[in-house]
Formats: sequence, structure tokens, C-alpha cells
Amino acid sequence: MGLLLLLTSMLLSSYFHPWRVVNAQMFMIRDITLSIEPSIDVIRDTNVTLRCQATVSSSGLEALSREYIIYKDSKTIYTKTSSTSEDLLYPLSEVRVFNTGKYTCKVKIEGKQMTSGARKLTVTGLSKPVLHLNKVVVSEGEEITAKCTAPGETGSIFFYFYEDSTEIQEQQVLSNQAEAKLRLSSVGVHKLHCAYTVLITPDSFKSEESNTVTVSVKELPIAAVLEILPQSPKIYEGDQLFISCTVRNALHTFKSIHLYLSQGNKLLSRGDTKVNHSSVALAKDPGDFECRLEMGDVVKIDTKTISVTELFSVPTLTMSPAAVFQKEYLKLTCKSESSASERLNRDELIYTLDPPGGPLIRKGPGIFSGNALLYDFNYTCVAQAKGIVKQSETLTVRPKVSVSTPKISVVGRAVLGQPFKILCQSDIGSLPINYTLLMGYDQLSTIVVKQPFQQALFTVNIPKPDEISKYMCEAKNRQREAPLSKRLNATVIVPLTHPILTVIPHPPEISEGDDLYLICGVKGSPPVSFKWYRVGNKHPLYTTTSIKNNTDYQVHSLSKEHSGVYYCEAVNHANNVVRSNSVTIEVRLALWKKVVIGGFSLLAVSVLVVVCVLCFRSKRGKREAAAELSVKPSSPKSDDSLTVNLTHDTEVYNAATGAAPLYDGMEGRGTNGARDSVASLPVDISNRSSYSIPATV
Ligand SMILES: *[C@@H]1O[C@H](CO)[C@@H](O)[C@H](O)[C@H]1NC(C)=O
Ligand SMILES: *[C@@H]1O[C@H](CO)[C@@H](O)[C@H](O)[C@H]1NC(C)=O
Ligand SMILES: *[C@@H]1O[C@H](CO)[C@@H](O)[C@H](O)[C@H]1NC(C)=O
Ligand SMILES: *[C@@H]1O[C@H](CO)[C@@H](O)[C@H](O)[C@H]1NC(C)=O
Ligand SMILES: *[C@@H]1O[C@H](CO)[C@@H](O)[C@H](O)[C@H]1NC(C)=O
Ligand SMILES: *[C@@H]1O[C@H](CO)[C@@H](O)[C@H](O)[C@H]1NC(C)=O
Repeated sequence: MGLLLLLTSMLLSSYFHPWRVVNAQMFMIRDITLSIEPSIDVIRDTNVTLRCQATVSSSGLEALSREYIIYKDSKTIYTKTSSTSEDLLYPLSEVRVFNTGKYTCKVKIEGKQMTSGARKLTVTGLSKPVLHLNKVVVSEGEEITAKCTAPGETGSIFFYFYEDSTEIQEQQVLSNQAEAKLRLSSVGVHKLHCAYTVLITPDSFKSEESNTVTVSVKELPIAAVLEILPQSPKIYEGDQLFISCTVRNALHTFKSIHLYLSQGNKLLSRGDTKVNHSSVALAKDPGDFECRLEMGDVVKIDTKTISVTELFSVPTLTMSPAAVFQKEYLKLTCKSESSASERLNRDELIYTLDPPGGPLIRKGPGIFSGNALLYDFNYTCVAQAKGIVKQSETLTVRPKVSVSTPKISVVGRAVLGQPFKILCQSDIGSLPINYTLLMGYDQLSTIVVKQPFQQALFTVNIPKPDEISKYMCEAKNRQREAPLSKRLNATVIVPLTHPILTVIPHPPEISEGDDLYLICGVKGSPPVSFKWYRVGNKHPLYTTTSIKNNTDYQVHSLSKEHSGVYYCEAVNHANNVVRSNSVTIEVRLALWKKVVIGGFSLLAVSVLVVVCVLCFRSKRGKREAAAELSVKPSSPKSDDSLTVNLTHDTEVYNAATGAAPLYDGMEGRGTNGARDSVASLPVDISNRSSYSIPATV
């Protein structure tokens, strides 16, 4: 109980002890600098000091507890807490290249902190490496232990080992020495050295070369032996070859031995003490043989090259004739150009055709003939002698197809007097095909079609429509046959000429109420498009297309307003527009109007005559009244007639030709009745130029 009380009182007293209370002092970190002494660029082994100087202002006298941190390349390398205001000194004794880097210093006081600017220390100079070997005399395949040391260096170091100036090994270690197991490449004297690099990211610094150590590698007596039989200088295809690969001087060896026998890249056999191989010599195989012995790391090789002479060359297969048509006779010849006559009799060479049982029959040594098939066929030939078989390249026989009877046609339209194209084409037939255009039996020109898309197009120009049917063409793709087409059957379009506008009734006799027919006729091929115009109107009065080469336009019940100048235009597939003569039409008064006017005129004259007569009579009567009191009426003489000529001036009519109206074969737009009436018109109206009216008054 007493102990507990004592403890409690101790705790309380310590808690309330005056120096434990945190002094509420004010302070401020003014500045912090890092300096490197004696210099920022030093050589190795210099004693360098990093000085961290913090300037702090505070309100009290009591020293504040300061925590210093020194960083190298952002990594903390040193921390220290001090309660004095003295500079922090961090010694780097006997610096190495590894010490190169950027240093900063940080100070922390009661939660406040400040970091200095960075200073870069550069250390130059690496120590010379030292190479040490466990042996300087070794036998083939034996290992050497090499040790390379970088005296006094620290950090991350790469060590390199060199054999005769060639780098053979590399090691990265975190110490200043590395050990390597080296195996030298060949028998003889080799010079070894080493070097190292110190890694200071991102740079690295390379040392000078170490001392050179000379090593002798002694040859082992063991050897690989390759033997090829027969040993004759000339080996022919088909000769039996015996090849052996053996070990010599294998005494005193306890390691296991492996033997490999290969030809080119092909491994023939492998074994432990002796390897045999037997094969037939072939000209196509490579002649390089290799016997390889492997014992641990020791490799011994023996090689030999043989050259194999061909017994006979690869056969060639040829066809005659060079091109053949379906079902035609052909001959294939198979032949080896050269053969080793000292070893092989020509008769011993047997030629066969592959596939066997094809359509061709053997006709002699290497000669096969028969008729070509209808389709492509692949042949190869095989030559063999003394167990050697050689095959020719494949020959594809492509039987040609005879050309079919060509068809002749016009491309587009054939227009008289204008150039147009004639196409001659066969549906089947192997190319090239010679197409020849004929006129009658004269050959005009030939076109050789070599490509599938090519066409035989001939340009011609004919002077007369019926000449078109004289054209024929022939197609030829083999010497003997040349099928001939039919005659060219095509319509020749004759361009339009001689356009004539004919008017019915004849112009001087056109009266009000008549039906007018404007007949437009041309010479040339139908169908023809016609247009009728009246001078002064921009647009045609009427447009029509006819399969005949003339047609009409009707105007019913003419009136004075229809007077005017008319013409027509025509065009057909030859696309030349032709324009007719102009016709002037003047519509005269109707017959009844003339009659009425004539009647009135007569009446007026009659009245005038009667009045005159009466006047004369009355004067005479007055004079004779006394003598004669009775008056007798008078009547006109029976032959007393009056002729009134109502003919107008002659109209311009059919100015272009002055010919009679063209009206043959007209097919008008009217009914049959209308056509009949038109047809009879010329007769009916032929004598209407004048009227005689008897004076019946
Ligand atoms: C560097 O300091 C070591 C002791 O840490 C001392 O032995 C050595 O002589 C000094 N070297 C130089 C060059 O002052
Ligand atoms: C190799 O061939 C020889 C004869 O040339 C024969 O005596 C020997 O047994 C053969 N060895 C093997 C491993 O086949
Ligand atoms: C012929 O051989 C060629 C290749 O060489 C092949 O492409 C073709 O299809 C063969 N023709 C026939 C008819 O077998
Ligand atoms: C086709 O014409 C060419 C040249 O005009 C000629 O050499 C060739 O023999 C002709 N071919 C045939 C099958 O007539
Ligand atoms: C010409 O061709 C037409 C049809 O295009 C045919 O009616 C006529 O019979 C052919 N004439 C000849 C002589 O083949
Ligand atoms: C056009 O018509 C006239 C009369 O009907 C006729 O003589 C002539 O042959 C026709 N054809 C051609 C192409 O002119």
C-alpha cells in the first residue's frame, strides 16, 4: 500500500515538474544552406565535409531542438537531432566516384521545416582494377577462376572480363570484387584482363584496364576421325557410300564422349565410341560430311567434302508442235541432255510418262504421241537407271479451241455517208484470233485479237444503202480453217434531203371555211420527226413522228387569221435537220359572201339602170306627153350578161420545185373519210379560179 502511494506521488510530481512544461517560445526558420567543402569537384580519396547551416530567429534564449536530414539524390543518408545552433557537419571521408550526386539538407523544428537548395558533388578518378587467376596453364575445356577487384570502390559495380580484348563475361555486384568461371575458346596462348564501371544513375564511369595475365591452353590428344569409302576421286550417283565417325586417343579419359555424324544440316547418326552410316550417293544431296566429338566442353570436329558426279541429267519434256488444238496429234519428247558415258550406256536409261495410262502411247525411247484431249493435262516424265530416278518439270498441255463461226453486226447505227463501226465476234475460240473484214470476197482489213476483252471493230463508210449486205467477216486462229460469217444484215439510215411543203388546196384557191392540208415530205429513212412552223411563231404549230417519210398537218375551217407564211422541218436518226420551202397562204372570202356581194352589186347596177331609164323616159314623156299619153314597160335582152372576175393575184406556190403537189401514199391524221375527201380535192377545185355569174336580173 505504501509502495503504491509512493509511485503515484512520484508520477504526479514528475508530471507537474516545472522544466517539463513546454516553453511557449516563438521562433522562425530564416534560411538553410548546404555547402560542400573543400570543393564541389574533387578527386578520389579527398576528405569532403557537407556543411548544413540553418538560421533560426526565436523569442527566447533557450536552444530549440533541431532535426537535420541529409539527402543524396532524394534518398535520406543521414539524420541528426541537435539542440545547439551550431552548423551540422557531415563528413564524407576519402570519397569515391560513387559519392557523386546531388545533396540537400532539411531542418525540422517543432513541426516547421525548411529544405536547402541542392549542391552537386562530383568525384573523379577510379582505382585500377586488379585481375587474379587461379591457374595460368590449363588444358582444353578446363575452367579458370578469375577474380577482378576494384580497390577501395563502393556502390553498384559492373565487372567485365576480356579474352584477347574480346569481352567474354560481365557481372554486376554490390561489392568491389567479382569472381568468374572462364573457359577459353581455343588451344594456344590467351591474354586476359578485366575492367569495371561504377553506376551512378543516370551516368556510369569506366575504369582503366587491369593488369594482363597470360594463359596457355594445351590441346588434348583426343580427336574425331571421319572416314568415307570408297576413297576414289570420282564418286558417281548410285555408288554405295560407307561413312564412319570414330574417336582417336581416347586413353586416360574418364569423361563421357558423344559422337555425331551429319551431312549438311541432316544428322545421320549419333553414338558413343563409333558411328557408322551407309547410303547411296546422290548428286542432289550436299557433299559435306562432319564428324563431331563432344567430351564435356571439349569439341573436336573432322569434316570431308565429296563431289558426286551425275549419271544422267534431269530429263526435260518438250511438246511438238508448240501449240496444239483439241483432238489434234501431238508428240512429247523426254530426254536427259547429258549422261556419264563411262558408267552408263544410253540404252540403260528408261523413260516413262507420268501419269501412266494417259492418252499418249510410247513410240520410242522417250517419245510419246497421240491426240490432244479437250482439256488441260499435266505431264511429267521420269528417267531412271541404276536405281536413280529423276523427274522432269511438269508440262501442261493446253489444247487450243478452234474458233467458232463469227457474227457480224453494226455497232450503233449505220448512216449513209458517215463512218460507222462493224463488229466481228466469235463466241468461242482460243486467242489470238485474226478477224478479217470482207466486202464481197475482197479482204479489206485484219484485226488480231490477243486479249479476252479486245474486240475486232472495223470502221467503214458506205456510199449506197444496199452495199451494207456485201460485208462479211472471217475468224481464224489456226492455219487451215477460217469460218466465215453471214452477210451483214443491218438497216442503213439515209440522211434526209429534199424537204418539200405542199399545200392543198392550191394557194390561190384557199377560201374561208376550207380545210387546209400542209403536207411535209422528205427523201430519207424513216422514222422521221416533222415540225410545222408559221413564220413569226417561235414554237412549232405541230410536231409528229412518222414511220413514213411524209405526213401532213391539217387546219380545219380556215379563217382570214390563218393567212401567213408556213414551212416545215424534218429530222431522222441521221440527225440532220432539214427545212422546207416557205409557202404563203392567203385566205380569201367565202363563196356565199362573194355571191351576196355580187348580187348586191348587180342589184345596185340594175336599180341605177332602171332609174336612168325612167329619168330619160320621163324627160322624153314630158316632151312627148302631149303626143302620147300611154307608157309601155321595157324588159332586158336575153343575151345581156355580166361577168365578175373575183380572182386574186397568184400566190407564191411550191417555190422550191415548182412541181406538182406531192401527195402519194399520204397517211394523214384524219379519218378515212377525210383522206378520201382530200384525195378528191384536186379534181373538185381545179377550176375554181374564176366564176361566171349569168346576169339573170
Ligand atoms: C582523411 O581522413 C582520414 C581519417 O578519417 C585520415 O587518416 C586521412 O589522412 C585523411 N586524408 C587526408 C588527405 O587528409
Ligand atoms: C561399323 O562398320 C564396321 C565395318 O565397316 C563394323 O565392323 C562395325 O560393327 C560397325 N559398327 C556399328 C556400330 O555399326
Ligand atoms: C497442272 O499443274 C499445275 C501446277 O503445276 C496446277 O496448277 C494445275 O491445276 C494442274 N492442271 C491439271 C489439269 O491437273
Ligand atoms: C494472224 O495475223 C498475223 C499477222 O497479221 C499472222 O502473222 C498470223 O499468222 C495470223 N494467224 C493466223 C492463224 O492466220
Ligand atoms: C435481217 O434481220 C431482220 C431482223 O433484224 C430479219 O427479220 C431478217 O429476216 C434478216 N434478213 C436476213 C436476210 O437475214
Ligand atoms: C420516201 O418517200 C417517197 C415517196 O413516198 C419514196 O419515193 C421514197 O423512196 C421514200 N424513201 C426514201 C428513202 O426516200
